Amino acid sequence: MRFIVMSDPHFTIPNSIPDGIWWYRTLASRADDRNSSLIRTIRSLNPDVVVNCGDFTGDGKQASFQLGREVMDKTGCEWITAVGNHDTNWPGVREEISALYNLPRNVNYYLHLLRNGKDVFCFLVLDLCWHVWRDGSIRPHIDTEAFNAGEILRFSVDDCQLKWLDQQLEKHRDHNVFLVTHTPIAYKKNVLVGTLPKTDTVLNREVALNTLNPELERGSAERLKTILKKHRQTIRMVFSGHTHIHEVIYQFGIPFCTTASLRECPFELRVADVEGGRMRISTQALDDPTLFTDSYEAWRNNEWIMGTSEDRDFEILFTVGKQQRSEVPGDELVTGDYA
Ligand SMILES: [Fe+2]
Ligand SMILES: [Fe+2]
Repeated sequence: MRFIVMSDPHFTIPNSIPDGIWWYRTLASRADDRNSSLIRTIRSLNPDVVVNCGDFTGDGKQASFQLGREVMDKTGCEWITAVGNHDTNWPGVREEISALYNLPRNVNYYLHLLRNGKDVFCFLVLDLCWHVWRDGSIRPHIDTEAFNAGEILRFSVDDCQLKWLDQQLEKHRDHNVFLVTHTPIAYKKNVLVGTLPKTDTVLNREVALNTLNPELERGSAERLKTILKKHRQTIRMVFSGHTHIHEVIYQFGIPFCTTASLRECPFELRVADVEGGRMRISTQALDDPTLFTDSYEAWRNNEWIMGTSEDRDFEILFTVGKQQRSEVPGDELVTGDYA
């Protein structure tokens, strides 16, 4: 069984926004070339399903969402997506995604099942992009003005969703279970930053990150952590995006794999090949190399976002069926020390 993991395509109507800077140049002006390259690359890899880890659109607009759907449908593959923060700018987008998967209104977490012979693959797609406001309220959409004014503090995940996750993990304990989220649940401890996103400031120093994502509101992050630890023998891997960085870390015996963005360097996606009790993740560039060269700026010293060789190409082993167990490093409990 093969599936593709991609993230942060930020589908946007061509010429509706200018090129910008995140870690590298973001190439809105080359959206058509990127979309064509994405379709060709996915078709050539011929996966059973394509999984997008959110920020499906760049602006949450209905037209962008529609464009993204058209591009993904042209791959000829089944595809699914999680909700990202950029998808929540527009109040209707949750209803669109709900409609796509026949979900209740405003419910954007769901199970996607895939059968391959006698093997069952479960993708539990989570919605971690509800917004916690300074006044304590939790709301479904971003208000850009309020966000820029510092009124929106964190992401949150509601208790209904956590209960559902716990139940699904219990139910599918003998299957191959993958979690898909936009915001990563766990980060690397330290990264060597060249320039910060959106700035020209060269730092060249280590920035300490926390082991659990500090963007997640603490209470719900703790409850999520408890569920992950409880079901760590069931969860093969947790896939995320949002940071636009390739990395993999191991916590509670679970691999957390984050995939870089398709709107800037390195314009790559992940290929997951599962056979028996073995899963290999490799990293594959889009087939148009000029996307990379147009986006790349060496002086930014941000090559680190493309990951180490271990972040880019790795393998995990697990036992199939009852009493399954993933053989991954990091089995010891690492306590989150986020603020
Ligand atoms: Fe993004
Ligand atoms: Fe994001």
